[in-house]
Amino acid sequence: MERPKVFITRQIPQEGIDLLQRVADVDVNPVDAPLPKSKLLEAAAKYDGIIGLLTDKIDSEFFEAGTNLKGYANYAVGFDNIDVAEATRRKVPVSNTPGVLTDATAECAWALIFAVARRVVESDKVMRSGKWDGWGPMQFIGGDIMGKTLGIVGAGRIGTAMALMSRGFGMKVIYTSSSGRRNGVLDAELHAELVPFEELLKRSDFISLHTPLTPDTKHLFDSSAFSLMKDTAYIVNTARGPVINEADLVTALKTGQIAGAGLDVYEKEPAMAPGLAGLDNAVVLPHIGSATVSSRTNMSTLAARNLIAMLRGKKPETCLNP
Ligand code: DGY
Repeated sequence: MERPKVFITRQIPQEGIDLLQRVADVDVNPVDAPLPKSKLLEAAAKYDGIIGLLTDKIDSEFFEAGTNLKGYANYAVGFDNIDVAEATRRKVPVSNTPGVLTDATAECAWALIFAVARRVVESDKVMRSGKWDGWGPMQFIGGDIMGKTLGIVGAGRIGTAMALMSRGFGMKVIYTSSSGRRNGVLDAELHAELVPFEELLKRSDFISLHTPLTPDTKHLFDSSAFSLMKDTAYIVNTARGPVINEADLVTALKTGQIAGAGLDVYEKEPAMAPGLAGLDNAVVLPHIGSATVSSRTNMSTLAARNLIAMLRGKKPETCLNP
């Protein structure tokens, strides 16, 4: 029997490629950059299965081109790049990689909290510039973390893990839920409180975003949300950039409406909103939430197992189609 042909839109850890090579002929985009749309459409027409990234738009054009496509596996937990309804209408299975990057992303949110509240990046810059003239009582005074209120927006897997990590800091945890359902783990472990969105904005000292990007969450944080936050509060986003209106965030940071922001994701990646790069009260990372050895390896093997299942006409482990 002929071996299926698989395409991977960018180099990923070898472990997943090894799994795929046991059952399929695998081609990997040799260029370490997002695949242009025209090349993605060519691949859809030519291959039986594709592993792609959050930078690949898996839309109706893609499925139109992929008349023989047996499946598409996203190398990401977020799947706002995929038109799942269209995939389902065309009976093409699609999958993502939940569960294997939970701790890494939660840790990244904490890295941002520490960095922005304790002014780590600003302080590092001064040291490297050779301009530090010795200890001073008024230098680089930042925000406290111990005992403060942590607001979680989107208490799913990653939001829950992030909140549980606050135990060492004796924080009060409050959270919102789009479904209105309580989070049993957070309630039992942390005596957390489910609160309305506006209450979370008003009470939190730190807000950490873990919600998927949907039409309802796009620009959830805009000028009116920032106006309800404390002027001593910080916001951290390791979810998806467009959940924040970045131009409004720049204004809130410039005018002191909020104390600071830690961002791993942006509205129009790889660009940042004008003005953001010049702000000392913003810490900005290049979308590295899942960038640990184990997470990226496990994303690679999970995406591969998902695609192998699809090539065999079976349901993938983490299927997105209803
Ligand atoms: C995801 O998985 O959705 C991240 O944004 C990248 O790992």
